[in-house]
Amino acid sequence: MPLARAAAADVAVEAVGPKYIIFIQQKGGAGKSTMTVNTAAVAGRSSLLQNDIEDAAVIAAGIDPQGSLETWADRVPEEVLPFDYVVTKGRVGELSKFKDDPNRKRIFVDTPGFMEIDPDAAWGEDPLGQSRVAEALFEVLELAHLAVVPITPEWLSWKPAEFTIERILKPRKIPFIVVINLHEPRDGDTALKKVKRWIDERDYPRMPDPIRKYTIHAHAAENGLTVVEYKTSGTALRAREDFMNLALTIEQAL
Ligand SMILES: Nc1ncnc2c1ncn2[C@@H]1O[C@H](COP(=O)(O)OP(=O)(O)O)[C@@H](O)[C@H]1O
Ligand SMILES: [Mg+2]
Repeated sequence: MPLARAAAADVAVEAVGPKYIIFIQQKGGAGKSTMTVNTAAVAGRSSLLQNDIEDAAVIAAGIDPQGSLETWADRVPEEVLPFDYVVTKGRVGELSKFKDDPNRKRIFVDTPGFMEIDPDAAWGEDPLGQSRVAEALFEVLELAHLAVVPITPEWLSWKPAEFTIERILKPRKIPFIVVINLHEPRDGDTALKKVKRWIDERDYPRMPDPIRKYTIHAHAAENGLTVVEYKTSGTALRAREDFMNLALTIEQAL
């Protein structure tokens, strides 16, 4: 009986409070920020993640001391966003305060690149070292239920992805998925196959299909739009489909 009660209590504890999904990759430019706002938008529109109250069930958060998510969000009228957003500017404690909030279901966290952080750290030593970025990263790594590691067909992003997984995520036992971004559909499959093989050789879980490169995403970022507001052209629908796919893949992995 005490055992059964403990199990029931565990379930209850699990059900309260949001799941934190962090987008992390040592190198900039692979799509962390793009993925954060767009998956938050898709999830925020999902009927499974709605709240009747004012607090949105989905939060997009940025922990970059430079506040890059804020730059984006500044261009959006807040009432049109299907999620709340939080910009911590590297301040610790801003995201953990949602931990037990029963009204929040998903918190998607954009993280800064950290190429600049102690590249010489010895193996076995934590390469994040000490800095404002590192402190902010430590907090979200502590909170994370899942990490999404963006990678591109361009080989420059591969080593930093491996570093992120082997040195940051695996030692902390954070479950992760690798997502290929910026696949150019007009280029054929050669580069795509190569990066897929590289990921599979390492036995990293990955989203089967890539997120395609569409100029519309870059324009949207400039205008503070997310995929759910794209006009319904063929390209816009395909662009949106990619992020719906990502949002579903994340849900499955949680
Ligand atoms: N799938 C995509 N299609 C087109 N442009 C993209 C795509 N993903 C990212 N970008 C663009 O590439 C650049 C880097 O993406 P970003 O999300 O800012 O990367 P990170 O946050 O990892 O540095 C941005 O200009 C962004 O608009
Ligand atoms: Mg970014």
